[in-house]
Amino acid sequence: MAAETRKRILTSGNSVLPWQKLKLTSNAQISGTLIIGYKLSCNVLRFFCYFRLYMLNIQSKLPGVGTTIFSVMSKLAAEHNAINLSQGFPDYACDPKLTDLVSKAMKDGFNQYAPMAGNTFLKEVIANKIEKLYNVSYNPDTEITITAGGTQAIFTALAAIINPGDEVIIFEPAYDSYAPTIKLLGGQVKIHELAPPDYHIDWDKVKKLFTPNTRMIILNSPQNPTGSILSEADMKLLIKLVSGTDILILSDEVYEHLIYDGQKHQSVMLFSELRERSFVVASFGKLLHATGWKLGYCIAPEMLTKEFRKVHQFNVFSVNSPMQQAIAEYLNEPDNYNRIASFFEKKRDYFRQLMSDTRFDLLPCKGSYFQCASYNTIGDEKDTDFSRRLITEFGVATIPVSAFYQKATDHKIIRFCFAKEDSTLEMAAEKLRNV
Ligand SMILES: Cc1ncc(COP(=O)(O)O)c(C=O)c1O
Repeated sequence: MAAETRKRILTSGNSVLPWQKLKLTSNAQISGTLIIGYKLSCNVLRFFCYFRLYMLNIQSKLPGVGTTIFSVMSKLAAEHNAINLSQGFPDYACDPKLTDLVSKAMKDGFNQYAPMAGNTFLKEVIANKIEKLYNVSYNPDTEITITAGGTQAIFTALAAIINPGDEVIIFEPAYDSYAPTIKLLGGQVKIHELAPPDYHIDWDKVKKLFTPNTRMIILNSPQNPTGSILSEADMKLLIKLVSGTDILILSDEVYEHLIYDGQKHQSVMLFSELRERSFVVASFGKLLHATGWKLGYCIAPEMLTKEFRKVHQFNVFSVNSPMQQAIAEYLNEPDNYNRIASFFEKKRDYFRQLMSDTRFDLLPCKGSYFQCASYNTIGDEKDTDFSRRLITEFGVATIPVSAFYQKATDHKIIRFCFAKEDSTLEMAAEKLRNV
Protein backbone atom coordinates (compact mmCIF):
# COMPACT_ATOMS: atom_id res chain seq x y z
CA MET A 1 0.00 0.00 0.00
CA ALA A 2 2.76 2.44 0.94
CA ALA A 3 4.60 1.67 -2.31
CA GLU A 4 1.36 2.20 -4.28
CA THR A 5 0.71 5.50 -2.57
CA ARG A 6 4.28 6.62 -3.18
CA LYS A 7 3.97 5.82 -6.88
CA ARG A 8 0.73 7.77 -7.05
CA ILE A 9 2.26 10.74 -5.26
CA LEU A 10 5.32 10.82 -7.46
CA THR A 11 3.44 10.47 -10.73
CA SER A 12 0.40 12.70 -10.15
CA GLY A 13 0.29 15.62 -12.68
CA ASN A 14 3.12 17.07 -14.70
CA SER A 15 3.96 20.11 -12.63
CA VAL A 16 6.07 19.67 -9.53
CA LEU A 17 4.10 20.60 -6.45
CA PRO A 18 6.02 21.97 -3.44
CA TRP A 19 5.40 18.91 -1.34
CA GLN A 20 6.60 16.70 -4.18
CA LYS A 21 10.01 18.27 -3.74
CA LEU A 22 10.28 16.42 -0.46
CA LYS A 23 12.82 13.69 -0.87
CA LEU A 24 10.53 10.71 -0.35
CA THR A 25 12.97 7.90 -0.16
CA SER A 26 11.45 5.41 2.23
CA ASN A 27 8.08 4.00 3.12
CA ALA A 28 8.53 5.29 6.67
CA GLN A 29 8.97 8.86 5.43
CA ILE A 30 5.86 8.57 3.29
CA SER A 31 3.86 7.19 6.20
CA GLY A 32 5.10 10.05 8.37
CA THR A 33 4.09 12.58 5.71
CA LEU A 34 0.67 10.97 5.34
CA ILE A 35 0.11 11.03 9.09
CA ILE A 36 1.11 14.71 9.33
CA GLY A 37 -1.19 15.47 6.37
CA TYR A 38 -3.99 13.52 8.02
CA LYS A 39 -3.50 15.37 11.32
CA LEU A 40 -3.42 18.73 9.51
CA SER A 41 -6.63 18.04 7.60
CA CYS A 42 -8.30 16.84 10.85
CA ASN A 43 -7.36 20.13 12.54
CA VAL A 44 -8.64 22.21 9.61
CA LEU A 45 -11.88 20.19 9.65
CA ARG A 46 -12.17 20.60 13.42
CA PHE A 47 -11.69 24.37 13.06
CA PHE A 48 -14.54 24.57 10.54
CA CYS A 49 -16.75 22.41 12.78
CA TYR A 50 -16.12 24.70 15.76
CA PHE A 51 -16.73 27.74 13.53
CA ARG A 52 -20.09 26.32 12.39
CA LEU A 53 -21.05 25.45 15.98
CA TYR A 54 -20.14 29.02 16.98
CA MET A 55 -22.28 30.47 14.18
CA LEU A 56 -25.21 28.25 15.22
CA ASN A 57 -24.71 29.15 18.89
CA ILE A 58 -24.12 25.51 19.89
CA GLN A 59 -21.85 24.76 22.82
CA SER A 60 -20.28 21.33 22.37
CA LYS A 61 -20.99 19.11 25.39
CA LEU A 62 -17.79 17.17 24.77
CA PRO A 63 -15.39 19.70 23.27
CA GLY A 64 -12.28 17.61 23.94
CA VAL A 65 -13.60 14.45 22.28
CA GLY A 66 -12.42 13.47 18.82
CA THR A 67 -12.21 10.24 16.84
CA THR A 68 -11.33 7.30 19.12
CA ILE A 69 -7.92 5.65 18.94
CA PHE A 70 -9.70 2.44 17.87
CA SER A 71 -11.03 4.05 14.69
CA VAL A 72 -7.68 5.74 14.01
CA MET A 73 -5.70 2.51 14.41
CA SER A 74 -8.17 0.38 12.45
CA LYS A 75 -8.14 2.91 9.58
CA LEU A 76 -4.34 3.00 9.55
CA ALA A 77 -4.26 -0.81 9.72
CA ALA A 78 -6.58 -1.05 6.70
CA GLU A 79 -4.49 1.47 4.74
CA HIS A 80 -1.33 -0.54 5.38
CA ASN A 81 -2.96 -3.94 5.08
CA ALA A 82 -1.74 -4.67 8.61
CA ILE A 83 -2.89 -7.54 10.83
CA ASN A 84 -5.41 -5.96 13.15
CA LEU A 85 -4.87 -6.95 16.79
CA SER A 86 -6.07 -3.53 17.93
CA GLN A 87 -9.86 -3.54 18.37
CA GLY A 88 -11.47 -6.04 20.72
CA PHE A 89 -13.43 -8.35 18.46
CA PRO A 90 -12.98 -11.86 17.04
CA ASP A 91 -11.98 -12.41 13.40
CA TYR A 92 -13.78 -15.77 13.29
CA ALA A 93 -17.46 -16.66 12.95
CA CYS A 94 -19.74 -17.18 15.93
CA ASP A 95 -21.36 -20.58 16.50
CA PRO A 96 -23.55 -21.48 13.45
CA LYS A 97 -26.06 -22.96 15.92
CA LEU A 98 -26.60 -19.41 17.15
CA THR A 99 -27.10 -17.86 13.71
CA ASP A 100 -29.50 -20.71 12.84
CA LEU A 101 -31.49 -19.87 15.96
CA VAL A 102 -31.73 -16.22 14.82
CA SER A 103 -33.16 -17.34 11.43
CA LYS A 104 -35.55 -19.64 13.24
CA ALA A 105 -36.69 -16.81 15.56
CA MET A 106 -37.36 -14.58 12.54
CA LYS A 107 -39.35 -17.35 10.84
CA ASP A 108 -41.21 -17.95 14.11
CA GLY A 109 -42.40 -14.32 14.04
CA PHE A 110 -40.13 -12.53 16.53
CA ASN A 111 -40.02 -9.49 14.28
CA GLN A 112 -41.91 -6.77 16.15
CA TYR A 113 -40.96 -4.77 19.25
CA ALA A 114 -39.80 -6.91 22.15
CA PRO A 115 -41.14 -5.98 25.61
CA MET A 116 -39.46 -2.79 26.90
CA ALA A 117 -37.35 -4.57 29.55
CA GLY A 118 -36.51 -7.51 27.29
CA ASN A 119 -37.67 -10.92 26.08
CA THR A 120 -39.25 -12.75 29.04
CA PHE A 121 -37.58 -16.09 28.25
CA LEU A 122 -34.17 -14.44 27.92
CA LYS A 123 -34.51 -12.68 31.28
CA GLU A 124 -35.44 -16.01 32.88
CA VAL A 125 -32.43 -17.74 31.29
CA ILE A 126 -30.17 -14.96 32.64
CA ALA A 127 -31.70 -15.26 36.12
CA ASN A 128 -31.04 -19.04 36.05
CA LYS A 129 -27.47 -18.51 34.84
CA ILE A 130 -26.78 -16.04 37.67
CA GLU A 131 -28.26 -18.43 40.20
CA LYS A 132 -26.02 -21.28 38.93
CA LEU A 133 -22.85 -19.16 38.78
CA TYR A 134 -23.18 -16.96 41.85
CA ASN A 135 -25.85 -18.66 43.94
CA VAL A 136 -27.95 -15.53 44.13
CA SER A 137 -31.41 -14.89 42.80
CA TYR A 138 -32.54 -11.84 40.84
CA ASN A 139 -36.15 -11.34 39.79
CA PRO A 140 -36.26 -11.43 35.97
CA ASP A 141 -39.35 -9.18 35.89
CA THR A 142 -38.06 -6.40 38.07
CA GLU A 143 -34.26 -6.67 38.21
CA ILE A 144 -32.97 -7.64 34.76
CA THR A 145 -33.11 -5.40 31.67
CA ILE A 146 -31.90 -6.32 28.17
CA THR A 147 -29.92 -3.53 26.51
CA ALA A 148 -28.29 -2.63 23.20
CA GLY A 149 -24.89 -3.85 24.39
CA GLY A 150 -22.78 -3.14 27.46
CA THR A 151 -22.11 0.45 26.40
CA GLN A 152 -25.79 1.37 26.38
CA ALA A 153 -26.22 -0.27 29.78
CA ILE A 154 -23.32 1.80 31.17
CA PHE A 155 -24.73 4.98 29.64
CA THR A 156 -28.22 4.30 30.95
CA ALA A 157 -27.11 3.44 34.49
CA LEU A 158 -25.04 6.63 34.66
CA ALA A 159 -27.83 8.74 33.12
CA ALA A 160 -30.31 7.36 35.65
CA ILE A 161 -28.15 8.33 38.64
CA ILE A 162 -25.67 11.09 37.91
CA ASN A 163 -26.72 14.70 38.47
CA PRO A 164 -24.57 17.75 37.72
CA GLY A 165 -21.78 18.00 40.27
CA ASP A 166 -21.88 14.33 41.28
CA GLU A 167 -18.48 12.66 41.38
CA VAL A 168 -17.71 9.25 39.91
CA ILE A 169 -14.51 7.36 40.67
CA ILE A 170 -12.95 5.40 37.83
CA PHE A 171 -9.78 3.32 37.58
CA GLU A 172 -7.48 4.09 34.69
CA PRO A 173 -6.49 2.76 32.23
CA ALA A 174 -10.24 2.46 31.59
CA TYR A 175 -12.75 1.56 28.90
CA ASP A 176 -13.21 4.74 26.93
CA SER A 177 -16.96 5.36 27.38
CA TYR A 178 -16.90 5.99 31.14
CA ALA A 179 -15.34 9.47 31.36
CA PRO A 180 -17.18 11.12 28.43
CA THR A 181 -20.54 9.78 29.64
CA ILE A 182 -19.97 11.13 33.16
CA LYS A 183 -18.96 14.51 31.72
CA LEU A 184 -21.94 14.58 29.36
CA LEU A 185 -24.22 14.25 32.38
CA GLY A 186 -22.51 17.13 34.19
CA GLY A 187 -20.66 14.79 36.57
CA GLN A 188 -17.05 15.02 37.69
CA VAL A 189 -14.60 12.24 36.86
CA LYS A 190 -12.30 11.29 39.75
CA ILE A 191 -9.44 9.12 38.63
CA HIS A 192 -7.32 6.58 40.44
CA GLU A 193 -4.46 5.74 38.08
CA LEU A 194 -3.15 2.17 38.04
CA ALA A 195 0.33 1.21 36.90
CA PRO A 196 2.00 -1.84 35.34
CA PRO A 197 2.88 -4.59 35.76
CA ASP A 198 -0.10 -5.69 37.89
CA TYR A 199 -2.32 -2.56 37.85
CA HIS A 200 -3.47 -3.21 41.42
CA ILE A 201 -5.83 -0.82 43.18
CA ASP A 202 -4.55 1.07 46.22
CA TRP A 203 -7.79 1.29 48.23
CA ASP A 204 -6.33 3.81 50.69
CA LYS A 205 -5.79 6.17 47.77
CA VAL A 206 -9.33 5.49 46.58
CA LYS A 207 -10.65 6.49 49.99
CA LYS A 208 -8.81 9.79 49.71
CA LEU A 209 -10.86 10.56 46.59
CA PHE A 210 -14.11 10.39 48.57
CA THR A 211 -15.96 13.68 49.10
CA PRO A 212 -19.58 14.44 50.08
CA ASN A 213 -20.29 14.51 46.32
CA THR A 214 -19.02 10.98 45.59
CA ARG A 215 -21.97 9.19 43.97
CA MET A 216 -20.56 6.18 42.24
CA ILE A 217 -17.53 3.93 41.68
CA ILE A 218 -17.08 2.13 38.37
CA LEU A 219 -15.42 -1.28 38.58
CA ASN A 220 -14.27 -3.38 35.65
CA SER A 221 -13.05 -6.94 36.23
CA PRO A 222 -11.63 -8.68 34.24
CA GLN A 223 -10.29 -5.38 33.05
CA ASN A 224 -9.93 -3.81 29.63
CA PRO A 225 -7.18 -3.04 28.64
CA THR A 226 -4.91 -4.60 31.28
CA GLY A 227 -6.28 -8.14 31.70
CA SER A 228 -6.07 -7.69 35.49
CA ILE A 229 -8.79 -8.98 37.82
CA LEU A 230 -10.16 -8.03 41.22
CA SER A 231 -9.45 -10.48 44.04
CA GLU A 232 -11.68 -11.41 46.95
CA ALA A 233 -9.42 -9.24 49.15
CA ASP A 234 -10.13 -6.26 46.83
CA MET A 235 -13.86 -6.81 47.20
CA LYS A 236 -13.61 -6.96 50.99
CA LEU A 237 -11.64 -3.71 51.10
CA LEU A 238 -14.23 -2.12 48.83
CA ILE A 239 -17.03 -3.25 51.15
CA LYS A 240 -15.24 -1.60 54.08
CA LEU A 241 -14.89 1.59 52.09
CA VAL A 242 -18.49 1.97 50.95
CA SER A 243 -20.37 0.61 53.95
CA GLY A 244 -22.13 3.43 55.78
CA THR A 245 -22.08 5.60 52.64
CA ASP A 246 -24.68 6.07 49.88
CA ILE A 247 -22.10 5.42 47.17
CA LEU A 248 -23.40 3.25 44.31
CA ILE A 249 -21.40 0.86 42.16
CA LEU A 250 -21.44 0.29 38.44
CA SER A 251 -19.73 -3.04 37.90
CA ASP A 252 -18.73 -3.58 34.28
CA GLU A 253 -18.47 -7.38 34.06
CA VAL A 254 -18.58 -7.81 30.29
CA TYR A 255 -15.58 -10.20 30.49
CA GLU A 256 -16.97 -12.23 33.42
CA HIS A 257 -16.46 -15.55 31.59
CA LEU A 258 -12.97 -14.73 30.29
CA ILE A 259 -11.04 -15.57 33.43
CA TYR A 260 -8.12 -18.00 33.56
CA ASP A 261 -5.88 -20.27 35.64
CA GLY A 262 -8.74 -21.59 37.74
CA GLN A 263 -9.51 -18.14 39.20
CA LYS A 264 -13.08 -17.37 40.25
CA HIS A 265 -14.69 -14.21 38.91
CA GLN A 266 -15.34 -11.90 41.88
CA SER A 267 -18.66 -10.48 40.82
CA VAL A 268 -20.23 -7.81 43.02
CA MET A 269 -23.23 -10.15 42.99
CA LEU A 270 -21.35 -12.48 45.37
CA PHE A 271 -21.33 -9.89 48.16
CA SER A 272 -24.68 -8.77 49.63
CA GLU A 273 -23.19 -5.46 50.85
CA LEU A 274 -22.20 -4.62 47.26
CA ARG A 275 -25.11 -6.29 45.46
CA GLU A 276 -27.67 -3.99 47.09
CA ARG A 277 -25.99 -0.87 45.67
CA SER A 278 -24.79 -2.16 42.29
CA PHE A 279 -25.68 -2.06 38.63
CA VAL A 280 -24.00 -5.04 36.93
CA VAL A 281 -23.35 -4.73 33.20
CA ALA A 282 -22.87 -7.69 30.82
CA SER A 283 -22.39 -8.03 27.05
CA PHE A 284 -23.60 -10.84 24.79
CA GLY A 285 -21.15 -9.53 22.18
CA LYS A 286 -18.22 -10.66 24.34
CA LEU A 287 -19.89 -13.85 25.50
CA LEU A 288 -21.01 -15.13 22.09
CA HIS A 289 -18.19 -13.91 19.78
CA ALA A 290 -20.74 -11.56 18.21
CA THR A 291 -19.74 -8.00 19.11
CA GLY A 292 -21.67 -6.62 16.12
CA TRP A 293 -24.99 -7.73 17.56
CA LYS A 294 -24.70 -5.06 20.27
CA LEU A 295 -26.80 -6.82 22.88
CA GLY A 296 -26.22 -6.98 26.61
CA TYR A 297 -28.03 -6.55 29.89
CA CYS A 298 -28.08 -4.77 33.22
CA ILE A 299 -28.84 -6.42 36.55
CA ALA A 300 -29.72 -4.31 39.59
CA PRO A 301 -31.97 -4.41 42.66
CA GLU A 302 -35.55 -3.40 41.94
CA MET A 303 -35.27 0.22 43.10
CA LEU A 304 -32.22 0.84 40.93
CA THR A 305 -33.75 -1.05 37.99
CA LYS A 306 -36.86 1.17 38.19
CA GLU A 307 -34.67 4.25 37.67
CA PHE A 308 -32.64 2.46 34.97
CA ARG A 309 -35.77 1.58 32.99
CA LYS A 310 -37.10 5.15 33.17
CA VAL A 311 -34.12 6.17 31.03
CA HIS A 312 -33.96 2.96 28.99
CA GLN A 313 -37.54 3.26 27.71
CA PHE A 314 -36.89 6.69 26.24
CA ASN A 315 -33.43 5.86 25.01
CA VAL A 316 -33.97 2.69 22.95
CA PHE A 317 -37.31 1.48 24.38
CA SER A 318 -36.52 -2.15 23.51
CA VAL A 319 -33.80 -4.01 21.60
CA ASN A 320 -33.46 -6.50 18.74
CA SER A 321 -36.22 -9.08 19.12
CA PRO A 322 -35.18 -12.17 17.06
CA MET A 323 -31.67 -12.12 18.49
CA GLN A 324 -32.99 -11.97 22.06
CA GLN A 325 -35.09 -15.07 21.40
CA ALA A 326 -32.15 -16.87 19.76
CA ILE A 327 -29.75 -16.01 22.59
CA ALA A 328 -32.28 -17.25 25.15
CA GLU A 329 -32.51 -20.65 23.46
CA TYR A 330 -28.73 -20.84 23.03
CA LEU A 331 -27.84 -19.92 26.62
CA ASN A 332 -30.46 -22.27 27.95
CA GLU A 333 -27.70 -24.87 27.46
CA PRO A 334 -25.05 -23.94 30.09
CA ASP A 335 -22.29 -25.65 28.09
CA ASN A 336 -22.61 -22.79 25.57
CA TYR A 337 -21.22 -20.33 28.12
CA ASN A 338 -19.22 -22.64 30.40
CA ARG A 339 -16.70 -23.50 27.68
CA ILE A 340 -15.78 -19.87 26.88
CA ALA A 341 -13.07 -19.58 29.55
CA SER A 342 -11.10 -22.62 28.37
CA PHE A 343 -11.46 -21.51 24.72
CA PHE A 344 -9.85 -18.14 25.46
CA GLU A 345 -7.35 -19.52 27.96
CA LYS A 346 -5.95 -21.71 25.15
CA LYS A 347 -5.77 -18.65 22.86
CA ARG A 348 -4.00 -16.63 25.55
CA ASP A 349 -1.46 -19.41 26.16
CA TYR A 350 -0.86 -19.89 22.44
CA PHE A 351 -0.36 -16.17 21.84
CA ARG A 352 2.02 -15.88 24.78
CA GLN A 353 3.99 -18.86 23.49
CA LEU A 354 4.18 -17.32 19.99
CA MET A 355 5.39 -14.04 21.49
CA SER A 356 8.01 -15.67 23.70
CA ASP A 357 10.82 -15.19 21.17
CA THR A 358 10.03 -11.53 20.43
CA ARG A 359 11.60 -8.62 22.32
CA PHE A 360 8.32 -7.68 23.97
CA ASP A 361 7.87 -8.22 27.72
CA LEU A 362 4.44 -9.70 28.27
CA LEU A 363 2.52 -8.49 31.32
CA PRO A 364 0.31 -10.89 33.30
CA CYS A 365 -3.05 -11.60 31.65
CA LYS A 366 -5.51 -13.05 34.15
CA GLY A 367 -8.68 -12.32 32.23
CA SER A 368 -10.31 -10.59 29.19
CA TYR A 369 -8.97 -11.17 25.67
CA PHE A 370 -6.29 -8.54 25.88
CA GLN A 371 -2.57 -9.09 26.31
CA CYS A 372 -0.50 -6.06 27.30
CA ALA A 373 3.20 -5.85 26.56
CA SER A 374 6.04 -3.52 27.42
CA TYR A 375 8.45 -2.46 24.65
CA ASN A 376 10.96 -0.93 27.06
CA THR A 377 13.77 -3.13 25.74
CA ILE A 378 13.01 -2.04 22.17
CA GLY A 379 12.88 1.73 22.51
CA ASP A 380 11.58 4.67 24.48
CA GLU A 381 9.46 6.49 21.93
CA LYS A 382 5.88 7.48 22.86
CA ASP A 383 3.48 4.53 22.80
CA THR A 384 1.32 6.29 20.20
CA ASP A 385 4.34 6.71 17.90
CA PHE A 386 5.48 3.15 18.54
CA SER A 387 2.01 1.75 17.73
CA ARG A 388 1.89 3.75 14.49
CA ARG A 389 5.33 2.47 13.55
CA LEU A 390 4.26 -1.11 14.28
CA ILE A 391 1.57 -0.67 11.65
CA THR A 392 3.50 1.23 9.03
CA GLU A 393 6.83 -0.60 9.30
CA PHE A 394 5.93 -4.05 10.63
CA GLY A 395 2.30 -4.57 9.60
CA VAL A 396 0.66 -5.21 12.99
CA ALA A 397 -1.97 -2.96 14.59
CA THR A 398 -2.19 -2.63 18.39
CA ILE A 399 -3.52 -0.01 20.81
CA PRO A 400 -1.24 2.27 22.86
CA VAL A 401 -2.38 1.98 26.48
CA SER A 402 -1.93 5.75 27.07
CA ALA A 403 -5.19 6.09 25.09
CA PHE A 404 -7.02 4.66 28.12
CA TYR A 405 -5.80 7.41 30.46
CA GLN A 406 -7.40 10.90 30.50
CA LYS A 407 -3.90 12.33 30.97
CA ALA A 408 -2.42 10.06 28.28
CA THR A 409 -0.05 8.52 30.88
CA ASP A 410 2.57 6.63 28.93
CA HIS A 411 4.13 3.54 30.58
CA LYS A 412 5.41 2.30 27.17
CA ILE A 413 2.79 -0.42 27.05
CA ILE A 414 0.71 -1.59 24.09
CA ARG A 415 -2.38 -3.82 24.02
CA PHE A 416 -2.90 -6.81 21.73
CA CYS A 417 -6.30 -8.49 21.26
CA PHE A 418 -5.89 -12.27 20.99
CA ALA A 419 -9.54 -13.07 20.09
CA LYS A 420 -8.30 -14.08 16.65
CA GLU A 421 -7.83 -17.20 14.52
CA ASP A 422 -4.64 -19.08 15.45
CA SER A 423 -3.36 -18.39 11.92
CA THR A 424 -3.85 -14.61 12.46
CA LEU A 425 -1.90 -14.78 15.73
CA GLU A 426 0.86 -16.80 14.03
CA MET A 427 1.22 -14.27 11.18
CA ALA A 428 1.25 -11.38 13.66
CA ALA A 429 3.93 -13.03 15.82
CA GLU A 430 6.08 -13.68 12.77
CA LYS A 431 6.00 -9.98 11.93
CA LEU A 432 6.59 -8.97 15.56
CA ARG A 433 9.76 -11.12 15.66
CA ASN A 434 11.29 -8.52 13.29
CA VAL A 435 10.76 -5.68 15.74
C1 LIG B 1 -14.77 -2.99 29.53
C2 LIG B 1 -15.82 -2.92 28.48
N1 LIG B 1 -17.05 -2.57 28.83
C3 LIG B 1 -18.04 -2.49 27.94
C4 LIG B 1 -17.82 -2.77 26.60
C5 LIG B 1 -18.95 -2.63 25.63
O1 LIG B 1 -19.59 -3.78 25.30
P1 LIG B 1 -20.63 -3.77 24.10
O2 LIG B 1 -19.86 -4.01 22.84
O3 LIG B 1 -21.59 -4.86 24.41
O4 LIG B 1 -21.29 -2.43 24.08
C6 LIG B 1 -16.53 -3.11 26.18
C7 LIG B 1 -16.25 -3.36 24.76
O5 LIG B 1 -15.13 -3.44 24.31
C8 LIG B 1 -15.51 -3.20 27.15
O6 LIG B 1 -14.26 -3.55 26.82
